[in-house]
Amino acid sequence: MPKSLSLCLSEEKMQKWGRKKKNQLSLLFVLFLCFFVLFKITILSNGGITRSRGDDDPHSNSNSNPNPSSLPTYLTSNASTPRVANRVLGASDWSKACTTIQSYKRRAAVAAEDGRQHESKSDGCNLFSGRWVYDNRSYPLYEELDCPYMSDQLACRKHGRPDRDYQSWRWQPDSCELKRWNATEMLEKLRGKRLMFAGDSLNRGQWISMVCLVQSAIPAGKKSMTPNAGLTKFMAEEYNASIEFYWAPLIVESNSDDPINHRLDERKIRPDSLLKHAAEWANADILIFNSYLWWRSGNKIKLVWSSSEEDICEEADGIDAMKLALETWAGWVSTSVDPQKQQVFFVTMSPTHLWSREWNPGSDGNCYDERAPIDDEGYWGSGSDVETMHAVAAIMAKLGRKITVLNITQLSEYRKDGHPSIYRKFWEALTPRQLANPASYADCIHWCLPGVPDVWNELLFNSL
Ligand SMILES: *[C@@H]1O[C@H](CO)[C@@H](O)[C@H](O)[C@H]1NC(C)=O
Ligand SMILES: *[C@@H]1O[C@H](CO)[C@@H](O)[C@H](O)[C@H]1NC(C)=O
Ligand SMILES: *[C@@H]1O[C@H](CO)[C@@H](O)[C@H](O)[C@H]1NC(C)=O
Ligand SMILES: *[C@@H]1O[C@H](CO)[C@@H](O)[C@H](O)[C@H]1NC(C)=O
Repeated sequence: MPKSLSLCLSEEKMQKWGRKKKNQLSLLFVLFLCFFVLFKITILSNGGITRSRGDDDPHSNSNSNPNPSSLPTYLTSNASTPRVANRVLGASDWSKACTTIQSYKRRAAVAAEDGRQHESKSDGCNLFSGRWVYDNRSYPLYEELDCPYMSDQLACRKHGRPDRDYQSWRWQPDSCELKRWNATEMLEKLRGKRLMFAGDSLNRGQWISMVCLVQSAIPAGKKSMTPNAGLTKFMAEEYNASIEFYWAPLIVESNSDDPINHRLDERKIRPDSLLKHAAEWANADILIFNSYLWWRSGNKIKLVWSSSEEDICEEADGIDAMKLALETWAGWVSTSVDPQKQQVFFVTMSPTHLWSREWNPGSDGNCYDERAPIDDEGYWGSGSDVETMHAVAAIMAKLGRKITVLNITQLSEYRKDGHPSIYRKFWEALTPRQLANPASYADCIHWCLPGVPDVWNELLFNSL
């Protein structure tokens, strides 16, 4: 275990995190909230993009119920969590739920199995172990201004970022070469297919990156963007291909599933149900999931089990709630995904760079004004929670070849320079006090484009 990794688990670190987290995290969630609203405005105000009506319930399809008899043993053996398909809760149901709160009674721990997880590898080479090489000849792969689908939250140069080097780093695996990015080849891989990203705003950033990476290879008039409630689609007509984003920040059904009204002060989830989401996922050929930061607010999460009345809820820590949600999701993958027909990827946690003292001891900032990657090999900051990583690895291992892990955490850990920091559009007007101290409102969570998520997509391209 690298030194920095054990350090981040130390008691002292945890306490510091505890003290600082309130401010940092409330900022974090304001960012999440604004992100989609602004994103929508950006898309909608882009010329030529039409908005389709989102009034009909697109989730009435119930064909995708997993067959309970084929559930993996680690789900069925747990009698206290029956997987009953229940009606989908509406906004008012969610707000009425949980009048009585009980503390979470930990379910039997998931037994460890022998299964080896399937990491994306080419010819036995681990693509995720390597280093960043400055390469301003080949990078960036596209220009920020040339992508009409760019989000104002990620367009850092447009919002005044003075340096450009953050766009010009190539990921070099230790023991092999990445296949060079080729937009036409990517579109050929997607011909006749639906590629769907499902998750939170980090996953949305990767989706926008993918759209920007391919769109220049498609002539004007042969591409379109259709925002529609929780599902936004980019279409490449000549390829009959779509690249879509589905908002599901907590993976299972939750009171945060509305892409605009997330009700962030009190989070409630159905830990045992995702059928509403799965009805959409079932139609995709390639699925890219992520889920991490939404479990990390520090607040308890309310569990609205399908098996009990909606007014009685349990309350769990983020990590416990995340494990439950991911197990439900894993149950869906294991019963509903046919690896011959669907390819499923899971993107590991995207690191944050909220405390510069972690890479520069004695300093008191964050990612603001960082202009170069960290070159301390194996660097690991407190933004990447080790317990979460272990939980995710255990669940992925069980899914074996049904899932491919895009393990972007370590490579992104090095990229303290890749965040928008103050160079993005902010939802609320900044106060003079904030403006006087830029680090106080810097976004050290999302990533500038072109930038780090382009490399995540190159890794995906190499894994398809
Ligand atoms: C690439 O970087 C080098 C060194 O910083 C610089 O001299 C050169 O002009 C840059 N080339 C491009 C195409 O930006
Ligand atoms: C990109 O891929 C297309 C289709 O596979 C191929 O025809 C073309 O030569 C490739 N371009 C480069 C630069 O390799
Ligand atoms: C286009 O792709 C969809 C699947 O995404 C498929 O159902 C449909 O038949 C395709 N249409 C054509 C004309 O190939
Ligand atoms: C991702 O890689 C890290 C090492 O960089 C490893 O500790 C972790 O277990 C991996 N995560 C998963 C889900 O495989």
